Amino acid sequence: MITKQQVEAFGSIETPFYFYDMDLLRQTLDSYKAQIDKYGYNAHYALKANANDRILDTIRSYGLGADCVSGNEVKLAVRSGFDPQKIVYAGVGKSDKEIRAALRAGIFSFNCESVPEIQIINDLAAGMGKKARISIRVNPDIDAHTHKYISTGLKENKFGISPWAFQDVAGLLARCTHIEFLGLHFHVGSQITELPVFALLCRRVEELQQWFIEHRIPVRNLNLGGGLGINYQDPNGDPVAHFADYFDTIHRNLVVRPGQNVHFEPGRALVGQCGHLISRVLYVKVGKEKKFAILDAGMNDLIRPALYQAHHAIENLSSTGRKLRYDVVGPVCESSDCWGQKRLVSRCERGDLFAIHSAGAYGQVMAMKYNQRDLAKAVYSDDLK
Ligand code: LLP
Repeated sequence: MITKQQVEAFGSIETPFYFYDMDLLRQTLDSYKAQIDKYGYNAHYALKANANDRILDTIRSYGLGADCVSGNEVKLAVRSGFDPQKIVYAGVGKSDKEIRAALRAGIFSFNCESVPEIQIINDLAAGMGKKARISIRVNPDIDAHTHKYISTGLKENKFGISPWAFQDVAGLLARCTHIEFLGLHFHVGSQITELPVFALLCRRVEELQQWFIEHRIPVRNLNLGGGLGINYQDPNGDPVAHFADYFDTIHRNLVVRPGQNVHFEPGRALVGQCGHLISRVLYVKVGKEKKFAILDAGMNDLIRPALYQAHHAIENLSSTGRKLRYDVVGPVCESSDCWGQKRLVSRCERGDLFAIHSAGAYGQVMAMKYNQRDLAKAVYSDDLK
């Protein structure tokens, strides 16, 4: 919840900007950490959700590792002080340069997404006189019941290795002398709000690891990825993701063998609700059938609504007056640059400050300069105190 004092402080800041409520971030991390400690689980924060220095510092201070999907993310994680022994690295298209850099950094695990990738990592490690620790990202063919662009665990998706290729994997593992096999990795999608999806994932993990056990290949680690959703409809009323229910579901459904370690890769659930895109109303355009509130923040600042038809709650921070329906739009020359149609928002006028909520994850990191617009800067609540 953005406070009155914070809204006052916003008055002197150039819009649009990202506002991060660091108290909420810490509250979220407290809640997450309590749960993983309760079950003895390990967590690697998915840097792709938000890679701002201050956010990374805070998350690292809770002892989490990092989940990366590019060589530059690995570099950033190391530079930000994450322990290389807690860095995992996924991605279907790791380049030779990226693999070498990760080998040099001494990361914990490459999460391998294809059979040829295992061979290449082995060969590059051999050339550097190193041994690479790898996990196999398995495509479990599970429907995550989320937007099709952020589903990753169906067999038609490009991610992971399908079970029919396990025999080839086993052959490679036996031959590759510069590979150490750690275990299995899964990630079935993002913004998953139906907990039965995770229960199903746990059952698939058990079925799939049986194959490895039967072939006498020890599975030391199980990494279940990220994906837990947040409440985009009611961010003020429900600001912290439901970690207790999530981990309870995992704990009740996942078979963990003695000596096995369980890992997670949360992204959105940690940082989504602490970020808000703050914008000003430039114009109110009254048409015959509708009213447009035209903001100075556009799809280049936060692309989720344009790209995934994602819903973000919108609040007029400058008024608590009577609510009217507006089509809230941005300034970019695209019809998809629309924050929401027929949204109920307190009656607004030029200069009013608007918050687009739940913008902490996949917001600033996905921003771009389309229309040669400036990139929105970050403002942290700790600095307004
Ligand atoms: N692990 C892997 C291997 C991933 O690919 C992802 C996200 C995560 C963990 C973290 O997932 P999370 O806990 O944040 O759901 N740009 C999209 C989301 C893309 C997610 C990509 N992978 C959006 O704005 O909704």
